[in-house]
Amino acid sequence: MYLILQLLIIVLAFIFVEREAISAYAQSYTSAVAPVHKHTDAAKPLYSVRVSTWPVNVQDSNEYFLIDIDAPLTWHECIVQWNMHPGSCPSNTRCTSSVSCEEYECTHVRTSYTYQNPSCPPETNISTTMPGNWIYCTCPVNVVNPVTGSCDQALLNYDELNLNTSDGRNVFTGLSGANPNAACAPSSSFASFPANVTGVMGFSSSPYALPFNMYYLLRNTLALCLPSKPSATGVLFFGPGPYYLLPQSNVDVRSYLSYTPLLKHPDSFGYFISVHSIVIKKRSIDVPANTTTKLSTIDPYTTLRTDIYNGVIRRFSMVTKRLRPAEPIAPFSLCYSTSTTGLKVPNIDFSLPDGKKWTVSTANSIKQISSEVACLAFVDGGATSEPAIVIGTFQFEDNFLLFDLENSTLRFSSSLLRKQTTCANFNFTLTP
Ligand SMILES: *[C@@H]1O[C@H](CO)[C@@H](O)[C@H](O)[C@H]1NC(C)=O
Ligand SMILES: *[C@@H]1O[C@H](CO)[C@@H](O)[C@H](O)[C@H]1NC(C)=O
Ligand SMILES: *[C@@H]1O[C@H](CO)[C@@H](O)[C@H](O)[C@H]1NC(C)=O
Ligand SMILES: *[C@@H]1O[C@H](CO)[C@@H](O)[C@H](O)[C@H]1NC(C)=O
Ligand SMILES: *[C@@H]1O[C@H](CO)[C@@H](O)[C@H](O)[C@H]1NC(C)=O
Ligand SMILES: *[C@@H]1O[C@H](CO)[C@@H](O)[C@H](O)[C@H]1NC(C)=O
Repeated sequence: MYLILQLLIIVLAFIFVEREAISAYAQSYTSAVAPVHKHTDAAKPLYSVRVSTWPVNVQDSNEYFLIDIDAPLTWHECIVQWNMHPGSCPSNTRCTSSVSCEEYECTHVRTSYTYQNPSCPPETNISTTMPGNWIYCTCPVNVVNPVTGSCDQALLNYDELNLNTSDGRNVFTGLSGANPNAACAPSSSFASFPANVTGVMGFSSSPYALPFNMYYLLRNTLALCLPSKPSATGVLFFGPGPYYLLPQSNVDVRSYLSYTPLLKHPDSFGYFISVHSIVIKKRSIDVPANTTTKLSTIDPYTTLRTDIYNGVIRRFSMVTKRLRPAEPIAPFSLCYSTSTTGLKVPNIDFSLPDGKKWTVSTANSIKQISSEVACLAFVDGGATSEPAIVIGTFQFEDNFLLFDLENSTLRFSSSLLRKQTTCANFNFTLTP
C-alpha cells in the first residue's frame, strides 16, 4: 500500500513538472521568425527565407529557400535515402528519408497536392503504373521551377525545417519547426536560381506547405515583410503576433493592418483577393465583376489584363502630365526622366470589398531603372491573361502582409514607410 502511494506521488510529481515545462516553453514565444533576403542576380528579382534543415551532413545547417506563396509543397537540394545510419550520407550532401511509392502520402501528394501545370506530365496513380521493386520505390512528384517555368521531378521525403522562435521583438535561441513531407531535387534543378538559394518553400494553403505543418500555436498564420534592397534583411513570421518593427519598439504592427477576405480558387493553393476597382486621384478604373486577383511572390511586378492596364496607364499618364516623360523601357510602358529629383506621384488604390483599400504609393509604384529613368512598375499581361490581376513583389516591398488561413483573411499595412519603418527594421539580435 505504502509503495503504491509512493509510486502515485512520483507519477503525479512527474506529470506536474512535465506540464510546467510545457507551459513555460509555450509561453516564452509567440512566433517563429526567419530572415528574408532580396536577390537580384537571377532573371528576375526573387526573395528567399533562411531556415535550417535537418538531418544534414554539411557544415552549415542553414539553407536559403525561394519564398513561393503559391507552391503546394517545399522542395530543395537533397537526396532521399533508405538507409539513414550515421555515416551513410555522402559528405556535403543533405540526406532525408524517402517516402515509398506504397505509402499513403505518395498517392495523396501525387493525386491532389502537386503542382498543376501544363508543362508537367500527368501524375497517374503510381501503384498502377510503376511495377517493380516496391521496397525501394521512391515516390516521384512534379515540381515547377518558378524561375524558368519548367517541370522537374523530385522525390518525396520526410523533412525537417527549423526556425528561431521570437516574442515578436527579438529572436530566441529555441527552435520551432515543422516536419512536412517535402521533396528532394538534384542540384541541377537550382541552376537558374539566385546564388546560394537551393530550394523553394511552399507557403500556400496546401496541407503539405509550411503554414499547415507548423507547431499548432503557430499554425496557419504567416506574416511576410519583403525588403526593398538586397542589402536589407526583411522578416517572415509564423504565429498570430504580436510583431514589432524598430524604431517603434512598442507598437504592434497589427495596429497598422487593414483586412480583406482571402478567396479560394479552384486548382490553386495560392492566395486570391477581390479588387473592385483601381482608383487614381479620385477617378476609378473599373475592374469587371468577378475578376480574379492573385497574390504572387514570384511575379516581380503587378500584371494587369490589357483592358485594365490601358485604363490605368491612361489615367496615370494624365495625373503625371507635369513630369518629364522618358523613352519606355520594357516591360514597362510609362517612364519618366528623373535627372532632377526623386519622383513623387499620386497613389494607386486597390479598392477592396467593404470600403477597404490597399494604397500603392510612390515607393511601390515607381521603379528606378537607372539614374535617369524611372517607370511605372505595372506590366501588361495581354488581352486574355488569367488571373486578370496578379499583384507582384515590387508592390509588396516594405508592406506587411499577414495571411490568416484560419479566418481566410489577408491583413495588410500598405507602405510601412508612412509609419516611418520598413521591413528591414526587425531586431534580429539574439536574446539568450
Ligand atoms: C491507386 O491504386 C491503388 C491500387 O491499385 C488503389 O487501391 C487506390 O485506390 C488508387 N488510388 C487512387 C487515388 O486512384
Ligand atoms: C537562429 O539565429 C541565430 C542568430 O541569428 C542564427 O545563427 C541561427 O542560424 C538561427 N537558426 C535558425 C534555425 O535559423
Ligand atoms: C554564397 O555562399 C558562399 C559560401 O558561403 C559565400 O562566400 C558567398 O558570398 C555567397 N554568395 C552570395 C551571393 O550570397
Ligand atoms: C481569427 O478570428 C478569431 C475570431 O475573430 C480571432 O479570435 C482569432 O484571433 C483570429 N485569428 C488570427 C490568427 O488572428
Ligand atoms: C459573378 O459571380 C456571381 C456568383 O458566382 C454570379 O452570380 C454573377 O453572375 C457573376 N457576374 C458576372 C458578371 O460574371
Ligand atoms: C535589439 O534587441 C536587443 C536585445 O533585446 C536590445 O539590447 C537592443 O537595444 C535592441 N535594439 C534596438 C535598436 O532597440
